[in-house]
Amino acid sequence: MSVGTSLPHDSAALHVTGRARYVDDLPVPADTLHLAFGISTIAHGEITSMDLSAVRAAPGVVAVLTAEDLPFANDVSPSAHDEPMLSTGTVHFVGQPIFLVVAESHLQARKAARLGQISYKERPALLTVDQALAANSRFEDGPVIWSKGDAAAAIAKAPRVIEGTFDMGGQEHFYLEGQIALSVPNEGGVTVHCSSQHPTEIQHKVAEAIGTHMNAVRVEMRRMGGGFGGKESQGNALACSTAIVARMTGRAAKMRYDRDDDMVITGKRHDFRIHYRAGVTDEGRILGIEFLQLARCGWSMDLSLPVADRAMLHSDNAYNLENIRIESHRLKTNTQSATAYRGFGGPQGMIGIERAMDHIAHVLGRDPVAVRKANYYNDMGDGSQTTPYHMPVEDFILGALTERLEASADYQARKKAVADWNAKNDVLKKGIALTPVKFGISFTLTHYNQAGALVHVYQDGSIHLNHGGTEMGQGLNRKVAQVVAAGFGVDPGAVQITATDTGKVPNTSATAASSGADLNGMAAKAATDTIRERMAEFLAREHQAEPAAVRFEGGRVKIGGEDMAFEEAAKRCYQGRVSLSSTGFYATPKITWDRKAGRGRPFYYFAYGASVTEVVVDTLTGENRILRTDILHDAGNSLNPALDIGQVEGAYVQGAGWLTTEELVWDDKGRLKTHAPSTYKIPACSDRPRIFNVALWDGPNREETIYRSKAVGEPPFMHGISAFSALADACAACGPHWPDLQAPATAEAVLAAVKRARGTV
Ligand code: MTE
Ligand code: MOS
Repeated sequence: MSVGTSLPHDSAALHVTGRARYVDDLPVPADTLHLAFGISTIAHGEITSMDLSAVRAAPGVVAVLTAEDLPFANDVSPSAHDEPMLSTGTVHFVGQPIFLVVAESHLQARKAARLGQISYKERPALLTVDQALAANSRFEDGPVIWSKGDAAAAIAKAPRVIEGTFDMGGQEHFYLEGQIALSVPNEGGVTVHCSSQHPTEIQHKVAEAIGTHMNAVRVEMRRMGGGFGGKESQGNALACSTAIVARMTGRAAKMRYDRDDDMVITGKRHDFRIHYRAGVTDEGRILGIEFLQLARCGWSMDLSLPVADRAMLHSDNAYNLENIRIESHRLKTNTQSATAYRGFGGPQGMIGIERAMDHIAHVLGRDPVAVRKANYYNDMGDGSQTTPYHMPVEDFILGALTERLEASADYQARKKAVADWNAKNDVLKKGIALTPVKFGISFTLTHYNQAGALVHVYQDGSIHLNHGGTEMGQGLNRKVAQVVAAGFGVDPGAVQITATDTGKVPNTSATAASSGADLNGMAAKAATDTIRERMAEFLAREHQAEPAAVRFEGGRVKIGGEDMAFEEAAKRCYQGRVSLSSTGFYATPKITWDRKAGRGRPFYYFAYGASVTEVVVDTLTGENRILRTDILHDAGNSLNPALDIGQVEGAYVQGAGWLTTEELVWDDKGRLKTHAPSTYKIPACSDRPRIFNVALWDGPNREETIYRSKAVGEPPFMHGISAFSALADACAACGPHWPDLQAPATAEAVLAAVKRARGTV
């Protein structure tokens, strides 16, 4: 059985030998044009004059376009049509594209793009959440408020009230392959090669940009060198620019941001401020809690509303909160338009309650794990416990999972060892923490929960697979190929994986919300089942048997006494004029969601997990290191344990990076100062935990997902929270006060927390 087997990533050999082709590796026509944007140098204002003569005169420049030169739609927004590809006279952030340079070479385009002489009438820029709040600068009319029970009344009656404010930074995606697109004109329209999680969106925006229908645009996407949410919408501008130039000139056009431009122009994870106020019992059971969530969304709407919704949807994390009120503000600022990033707001919402848990435990002097467990939902509950958005919780497993992890990670003994160490050492302090994850699976935009696939069996028995998902390193193609191979009873190597192509499978959703395998696996299974049933029916008829008697296994097809190779069966079916090609379709059942009311079942199911991290902090410098991490993660009946463990490891390191070393700094003019690896520090190999034990939970999904597996792409990102909690625990060992560590926990932030713990500030 190919499903459930730890096969390597389908491109592993190509990746490590450098033969995997990315868009920049594709051979291009000799006369290909290269593009670059001229960008705003101020955060907010009107353009009063624009002199582009030096740009036009620069070597190799073929054309320079401004908003007025765009023949059709000037809009690259995925949501509210509030994002012109080129500025229409107002600029909203440092880095906003104003004009487009078309040149003979990449370097010529980039050099010329710096030569524009632009004068502005500057307007005050709103850069921070405080400034945006004061100016009432926001998306939507006011805050979104969801509630269950009566939080204020419960808090008023509670024996203890604990409150605090937590600031967390954003995060640069730092995909290794930057944003890129290549458009090649053809007779009826254009073919676009790009690095995108959402080829159908690219097709849609390109069609509008060149004034055609979607059927004139074909988007092909073989693989991304990482996306992490940063390629859901942020590639639209490059695809549209290249398509417009290709249509205008009849020549192929290519655009690639260099790393600094990529960081300055594109959106990042939303930074948040969360205020929590909890009424608790002396044991730490939460009676009522209020959250205020302030999200800094940047200048255009992009995906900020669903991101902020998902933050609200994860403010309970693993805890049964009977009285809760969540107020969410989506603030509009003069910065890059914040966008999707692994977890899609979930991590921000979840860390709000996790900080509250640590704060409660600290004030009450209780074990943080005991406080957490006292608030957990019940394992496999009867549905009487509901989330803050009134969805029954029926598949909870964190009680048992936490117990298993505490044992395998030796949590209690190590907690004691950490305390002993801290009693004896003044300079190096250790910390340990266990944090849980419950993450909702499904797009909250209900119509996105659908997928299509296309499977062909050729007359020689070889199999061609296409589906709507995109490959960004997560191993989706391998998993879907395993599903198809299982359906035909053949070796997964027999299934040819092909590039995502809007001409083969139409109307696809973004590969996002971790749903790639859930949705496309099911669609591919449907296509496979259709073909297999047709084959079985034909072969059964030949043998005067029932179709159910035909068996597909081990690369053979067996019926009655006959045992033939799959190739032979395919050949016979072809000669018998049986269609060996089928589409497949899937739509997630059971989900309903009313986002205005904050009620419904937005998620088909939840993915769970927990992690224990131990760290050491140098209290003289604030430098710190992860010593050991243990993770137990729920991927249901894993389709491919090796790939899933890889996802868990990578996600943890990325999550820990977000909360520790990755710091985005803007100056008071709104200029991003950290726009290269020299100043923006993502985790290096040497930052991974020295001891890193990752295991998968062994229960099936209780819902009927593809082979009862669970989505795995995003949920483990939030195990990074245990690294942060462990650092906070180490800071707390320095003195009696609540250290109130803020994120990212850079060396400076750790030192500030150590001082607060000691009461020396
Ligand atoms: N893993 C790798 N290697 N590269 C990526 O870009 N993106 C993550 C996650 N894992 C990503 C990754 C994000 S943000 C999502 S939503 C999922 O993969 C998307 O893929 P899936 O739905 O197939 O899990
Ligand atoms: Mo992932 S943030 O849903 O692309």
